[in-house]
Amino acid sequence: MTKHISDIDEVLTTTRAVRRHMDFDRLVEPEVIEECLRLAQQATMGSNQEDWQFVAVTEPTRKEAIAALYRDVWLETVEKPLKAQRPDTVARLDPGLRSDPAQQARQQRVLASVKYLVDRLQRVPVLVFACSAKPVPKTALGDRASGYYGSIFPIAWSFQLALRSRGLGSVMATAIVFHAEKLGEILQLPEGTHPITMIPVAYTDKLDFKPAYRRPLEEILRWEKWED
Ligand SMILES: Cc1cc2nc3c(=O)[nH]c(=O)nc-3n(C[C@H](O)[C@H](O)[C@H](O)COP(=O)(O)O)c2cc1C
Repeated sequence: MTKHISDIDEVLTTTRAVRRHMDFDRLVEPEVIEECLRLAQQATMGSNQEDWQFVAVTEPTRKEAIAALYRDVWLETVEKPLKAQRPDTVARLDPGLRSDPAQQARQQRVLASVKYLVDRLQRVPVLVFACSAKPVPKTALGDRASGYYGSIFPIAWSFQLALRSRGLGSVMATAIVFHAEKLGEILQLPEGTHPITMIPVAYTDKLDFKPAYRRPLEEILRWEKWED
């Protein structure tokens, strides 16, 4: 298997959310998915329990059913609420509310890119679903909630990093879980296993992804205590 990038810092800074640059026509070998997941299994986890489960989907009819679900998620969680000017959605997604023109343009680009994938999800070679076998926490805050999601996202992100180093791109597409129950039926998940995120995977049509803009570190790091 060809490894394109060995430098860990380069992988960490150039693993972008890939949507537009997926090569839909190039087969993704099952061995690549397996190798990258095997590496990702070394990620940190809560309670030293491997409560993660993965389903990798390649069948066209199953991918089409998932894509239809994803189109509905876009309609219900983005298009309709933005049109109706629902305050929570507007605050979260409306490009016009971002702080400066550069941020507005960036948010506009991200929304257009998300829609691009929404319209083409069935063409992505592999849709990987990271699931949790832990009971869903009853309270939103606290160690249970942190441990629940925190036991899945590290392995999911390690998987994305391993893919990137091998010339593949992916995106953490959690929005699909808006329809968690229907998704569970399509994937035939057993009782007690919950989908946490979808990760569409494809080879990328370019390799030179760049570090993205991030806020200056001084804005997000404080030493010893919070002080503005
Ligand atoms: C928790 C989480 C949920 C996300 N959900 C989605 C999603 O549903 N659809 C999507 O296209 N991208 C999704 N993303 C990807 C982000 O949009 C993307 O990482 C962000 O815009 C920054 O872009 P970059 O990673 O290329 O720097 C998600 C990322 C995270 C961490």
